[in-house]
Amino acid sequence: MGRPIEVSASILAADFANLERDIKRCEAAGVARFHIDCMDGHFVPNLTIGPVIVEAIRRHTKLPLEAHLMIEHPGDYIGHYAKAGADIIQLQAECYGRRRAACGLWNQWPKETDHVDAAALCADLKKIRGLGKKAFVVFNPGTPLAEDVLGTCDGVLIMSVNPGFAGQKFMPEALPKLKRLKEIFKGDIAIDGGVNAQTAPSAVGAGARVLITASYLFGAPDLSAVVETLKSLG
Ligand code: DX5
Ligand code: ZN
Repeated sequence: MGRPIEVSASILAADFANLERDIKRCEAAGVARFHIDCMDGHFVPNLTIGPVIVEAIRRHTKLPLEAHLMIEHPGDYIGHYAKAGADIIQLQAECYGRRRAACGLWNQWPKETDHVDAAALCADLKKIRGLGKKAFVVFNPGTPLAEDVLGTCDGVLIMSVNPGFAGQKFMPEALPKLKRLKEIFKGDIAIDGGVNAQTAPSAVGAGARVLITASYLFGAPDLSAVVETLKSLG
């Protein structure tokens, strides 16, 4: 039997005025982790969560917290998110390479790169590990895998939407990257964006073991049923 499926609740679709309640609902439904989308309005066209919210969530759950940093210069913030209580810190590969010409300006998205600076990225991954946290690399749909950093990662997160918002459509372009990781990578393989009952089977078939979901989970009347449906794909 392969590794069991874990569901990570992306709180971007939670009720932010009732976050504690939604955290408890997710725990009761059997999620394995919480996924916290931290956006700066520069790396992505949306602005969301900083370390203070991570700290607030930390007080209400013992489950692992993953901070998905969709921010420019993420290395400068690793210490802040670690101190706030994140267990897993997820760095976008596009922050460590020359950007494609089409996304070179601040208001051009999605950010994509063909040339990841592995030395710079690995230095920040080691910084995360040095703080006793798990280090993940994230690849946007248009960014190819940088296989030379995998030895320094505890996990890889493959984006199946261009980051910025919940509720977007799953991009099947993510599947070949999952398949490749399944062959060569022993750590966690996670998928983020557009995960639901229709799209999750192909992601799991391709190698994903951590399924991150926001709108499918929080949009359902019964969170437990969603978690059961996703876990049963394992
Ligand atoms: C997108 C975020 C995702 C998002 C997923 O930028 O990184 O975590 O919240 O939302 P759904 O599951 O609705 O696609
Ligand atoms: Zn995310």
